[in-house]
Amino acid sequence: MKFTIKTAKITETKSDCLVIPIFKKGNLIKASQSIDTANNGIISDFLKNGDISGKLGQCRMLPVQGKPYKRILLVGCGEYEKYSEKPYKKALASALKKLSSTSHKSATNFLSVVKTSKKIDYRAARIMAEIWHDITYEYTATHSKKTKKIALNKLSLGTNGRKINPEMKKGFKHGDVVGKAKQKVRHLADLPANICTPSYLVKEARKIASKHSSVSLTVINEKEMKRLKMGALLSVTAGSVEPAKLIVLKYSGGKSSQQPIVIVGKGITFDTGGISLKPSNKMDEMKYDMCGGAAAIGILQAVADLKLPINVISIVPACENLPSGNATKPGDIVTSMSGQTIEVLNTDAEGRLILADALTYSQRFKPKLIIDMATLTGACIVALGHHLSGLMSNSDDLANKLLAAGEAAGDGTWRLPLGKKYMDQLKSNFADIGNISGGGGGAGTVTAACFLQKFVNDIEWAHLDIAGVAWLEGSKKGATGRPVALMSEFLIQEANKS
Ligand code: BES
Ligand code: MN
Ligand code: ZN
Repeated sequence: MKFTIKTAKITETKSDCLVIPIFKKGNLIKASQSIDTANNGIISDFLKNGDISGKLGQCRMLPVQGKPYKRILLVGCGEYEKYSEKPYKKALASALKKLSSTSHKSATNFLSVVKTSKKIDYRAARIMAEIWHDITYEYTATHSKKTKKIALNKLSLGTNGRKINPEMKKGFKHGDVVGKAKQKVRHLADLPANICTPSYLVKEARKIASKHSSVSLTVINEKEMKRLKMGALLSVTAGSVEPAKLIVLKYSGGKSSQQPIVIVGKGITFDTGGISLKPSNKMDEMKYDMCGGAAAIGILQAVADLKLPINVISIVPACENLPSGNATKPGDIVTSMSGQTIEVLNTDAEGRLILADALTYSQRFKPKLIIDMATLTGACIVALGHHLSGLMSNSDDLANKLLAAGEAAGDGTWRLPLGKKYMDQLKSNFADIGNISGGGGGAGTVTAACFLQKFVNDIEWAHLDIAGVAWLEGSKKGATGRPVALMSEFLIQEANKS
């Protein structure tokens, strides 16, 4: 898709289709008014007769003749007084969905001419590019028949006579890059576990490293894991014949003296629960247990594509969690890379085990801060449903930045506590720590984060539990690409500061 800016007056804009805002109560904004006048009052006639009401997301396509444009797409934008980023996004998404099903090749979006400012210009362009990729994502990898192609190949932001603001171009770039990263993550996540193995993730990471000279890849195999004494990670992969990998993707965009931001993503390519076997209902969804890992890879791609002036390292411990004669058993005690011993009370609490060693490993890079992302606990879905990720952090400052980034990106989080009382639930009679709360006590999401905290020492750190948001279930089953938008927003902000 080509994203451009059209500065012509709305009535003189050359495009297959003009996308025009309509508000409730029927008052036309200036731009819509001039289109109405140029077309003998067709819009006011539609409004008068109730063909369109301005309800948010409503769409009506009108043919026109003898004009530089062939169609007008009227789009309901809700109440004028409440028009802001969220309704803009919703209205535009519905317009683009409509357009992607037609054979028009170009369209110009005037939904953002309502209010103008430097910041709005950036956001309007960014959202347009980003949601285009959201809407057009389609999983086809394992279908025998491919679906039809989308005709639309040029999407413009109309300014109705205003000059180009460079912020718009920046917005396009950011939206395009983040949108593509989300698409990649969704694709990797939607692939079945017999295709998307740890080695497959390595190949994807390698593609990014070969494309960018600023990106380098290190892959740690099981032999090296043994040498590094990654007993926790190795205990999870013990039951699987598929080789485990620890993927380390390094982006150097900042000065070499600048401490890196480390991102760690859980890459369990299939989670059966191991010997603590999960029930079979919906177990297929455990192919999504690598969504954190895929996001870590996608985010690094975005950062490299944007050439952000910071250093970022994505670390993905990747393996399967399967039962077998070699599998780790409940009660087994393993020694993590940090030296701490862990009693594996439940082999289904495997994510924290692989993350533990990845977090320890990450410290050799002297991180400025660490953020991990993981489909870690079913308890997080109980607490927050499918709307918000769980956020836990040892730093109020980092937590607040992530909360704000999530809000701005429409990829929200909700902070949950940490603390000694929860930490104490992980005490074990036979090892330094248990991998679950042996005596119950609830707070499964928090105790999982407490377990991770044992492996980050005093480094500024945040944990995102994305169990409820990484994919949708039911008839719309599919990956969402979260939390790529949130993390990209956070990293763009960090880069703006440096
Ligand atoms: N990958 C799961 C968490 C999960 C379950 C995410 C369902 C999304 C949907 C994780 O490895 C797991 O099994 N966690 C256990 C922890 C428990 C054994 C303490 C869980 O949540 O049941
Ligand atoms: Mn599990
Ligand atoms: Zn898991």
